[in-house]
Amino acid sequence: MNILVTGGCGYIGSHTVLALLEAGHKVTIIDNLCNSSREVLERIKNITGINELTFVEMDIRDADGLEIVFNHYKFDAVMHFAGLKSVGESTKKPLEYYDNNVGGTAILLNVMKHANVKTLVFSSSATVYGDPISVPISETAPTGGTTNPYGTTKLMIEQMLSDLYASDQSWNIARLRYFNPVGAHESGLIGEDPGGIPNNLMPYITQVASGKLDELSVYGDDYDTADGSGVRDYIHVVDLAAGHLKALDKLEGLATYNLGTGKGYSVLDVIKAFEDVNDIKISYKIAPRREGDIASCYADPTLAESELGWKANKDINQMVRDAWNWQSKNPTGY
Ligand SMILES: NC(=O)c1ccc[n+]([C@@H]2O[C@H](COP(=O)([O-])OP(=O)(O)OC[C@H]3O[C@@H](n4cnc5c(N)ncnc54)[C@H](O)[C@@H]3O)[C@@H](O)[C@H]2O)c1
Repeated sequence: MNILVTGGCGYIGSHTVLALLEAGHKVTIIDNLCNSSREVLERIKNITGINELTFVEMDIRDADGLEIVFNHYKFDAVMHFAGLKSVGESTKKPLEYYDNNVGGTAILLNVMKHANVKTLVFSSSATVYGDPISVPISETAPTGGTTNPYGTTKLMIEQMLSDLYASDQSWNIARLRYFNPVGAHESGLIGEDPGGIPNNLMPYITQVASGKLDELSVYGDDYDTADGSGVRDYIHVVDLAAGHLKALDKLEGLATYNLGTGKGYSVLDVIKAFEDVNDIKISYKIAPRREGDIASCYADPTLAESELGWKANKDINQMVRDAWNWQSKNPTGY
């Protein structure tokens, strides 16, 4: 297929572009590089040996530019990763988040509609479940009660997609709710490259391991979990990328899938796995809980397995090994 990947230079997008190329698809990336580097394109070409990868530096809010790209390339489908993703930043800059994520997606969908490209795989997030009533969380669990503007943008886009589908059932739309993507391609050539202080646990750990940061803060050790620290469902980014290809293959109508492993690991579990696998001590301190954090969040991933034939294969040891492999080979990112 001929596929447009928005945000394809970013962390999850780049791993998915790699998987798409390896599966024989033709790929065009649109990215404004606000949180990524052009260097990723060379790395993808190095890994795959495939040179036919088109890149257009463009903001998805540029409707006229998008129109031209759609007319020229005649896509069959769109994978839409472009967006801002920092929970903390979204509380300080909510309008930028609504404009980029919600406004940008509305513009993209309009252009898709005009070009009659009606197949979309969208990056949603487990944050749409807010503070879950129970775990594991299945797709039928209530959504809402999001604790930050970032999460609310994902919820609003999900709603926009279901309204769009209700108005025109010739669309095929997958809403993929990611849990906590971590790790990197096993080559160590592509990975997560957060600018500034990382927001997420794994890049924080790897930067403490490399000496770039002094110490990790574990926010809360008094949650109602086995060791008191927060529990999350970490999923290897290569497994996550594979889930997108399965979703594209099987896509029919409007579908929503959790992409997680179904296993919860606490912050302290992840630190220990990292230390054991990589033989590096991680210096950490216990800090107060952060507002908006929840105790425990992990997926019931059985729907994706039964309907898409997709299941995460890589375990926590591979996640921490590959995260460190990427960080140690690229201490300053791309
Ligand atoms: N990483 C996670 O923990 C996580 C979890 C759940 C959902 N998601 C979602 O998955 C998607 C990809 O996440 P990621 O971790 O790869 O993030 P990322 O920041 O690495 O990638 C996003 C890419 O989109 C680009 N971009 C942003 N706004 C754009 C715009 N207006 N026009 C064009 N390009 C734009 C950025 O430059 C970047 O390359 C995002 O939508 C994110 O919200 C991420």
